[in-house]
Amino acid sequence: MSLNKKLIGLATGIMCSLTFVVNAEPIEIKFSHVVAENTPKGQMALKFKELVENNLSGKVTVKVFPSSQLFGDNKVLEAMQLGDVQMAAPALSKFKKYTKKLQIFDLPFLFTDMDSVERFQKGEVGIKLLRSMERKGLVGLGYLHNGMKQLSASSPLKVPSDAKGKKFRIMSSDVLAAQFMAVDAMPVKKPFSEVFTLLQTKAIDGQENTWSNIYSKKFFEVQDYITESNHGVLDYMVVTSKEFWDSLPSDIRGEVSEALAQAIVYGNDIAAKKAQQDKQKIIDSKRSIIINITAEQRQLWVNAMKPVWKKFEKKIGKDYIDAAIAANTVN
Ligand code: LMR
Repeated sequence: MSLNKKLIGLATGIMCSLTFVVNAEPIEIKFSHVVAENTPKGQMALKFKELVENNLSGKVTVKVFPSSQLFGDNKVLEAMQLGDVQMAAPALSKFKKYTKKLQIFDLPFLFTDMDSVERFQKGEVGIKLLRSMERKGLVGLGYLHNGMKQLSASSPLKVPSDAKGKKFRIMSSDVLAAQFMAVDAMPVKKPFSEVFTLLQTKAIDGQENTWSNIYSKKFFEVQDYITESNHGVLDYMVVTSKEFWDSLPSDIRGEVSEALAQAIVYGNDIAAKKAQQDKQKIIDSKRSIIINITAEQRQLWVNAMKPVWKKFEKKIGKDYIDAAIAANTVN
């Protein structure tokens, strides 16, 4: 080949790579979730989008799909493994297919409050759990709080026998199923997107959720009673697929992680505030009667539900449960 031809070839190659760099499409992150935008998770996802698109302008875009618009509970993690969505933050009760260990968060009356949950998540076991699904192709990027769960129903629930024979919608966790069976109730696993209609049509009698979910999805409008039970926690894990995460250039991965860490701090702050504010809005609406159980009544729920821990001790690991109990005490 003549020198001229070689030079032309080289120049064409350089032009092509330059064109590629100039025209390179930004990386798109689709973030799918099931709750409304005015919730801790909804707000966290929007903050994440804002931070990423400011800090990585032109390089990464984030599209947030709230309220199960893109994928509901049953599909999102499969879709992530197929590369159809890059990020999601399912409740910790929704990873059963991928690891049994995360069901630790569902054990009734395990954590005394959200500070205990935070201490556990930041500790050794919490960090290990973020990596517990890597062999299944999922990477945990961080935890996000929502808050403590309350029990809502179409009839008043003061003591465990009030729940007998009633149907409660639960997330897809066997621990949650066992928790309701422990009080002779009937658990029904259903996606979040169906809960309102199930309650409205009285296909089910009740459900468990946080104040912000009960408020934002209007469950309080179709449930006459809400028992302030604080019997369990509803938190999230922000996840991505290992394939997508490993495909990111390391500088971009670092920036995305940093934006997420900041968005989580922001979301956690909203979670703490909403737990108070949304409860108050429900009280003010007078659509639902809030039941404040006595310490003795609460103890009856604890006595009835706590045996569930033992049933799941092998699957979850006694050492993990002990670490959670230890997180209830400030060192
Ligand atoms: C539920 O299904 O009740 C919750 O997990 C919804 C959510 O994501 O907060």
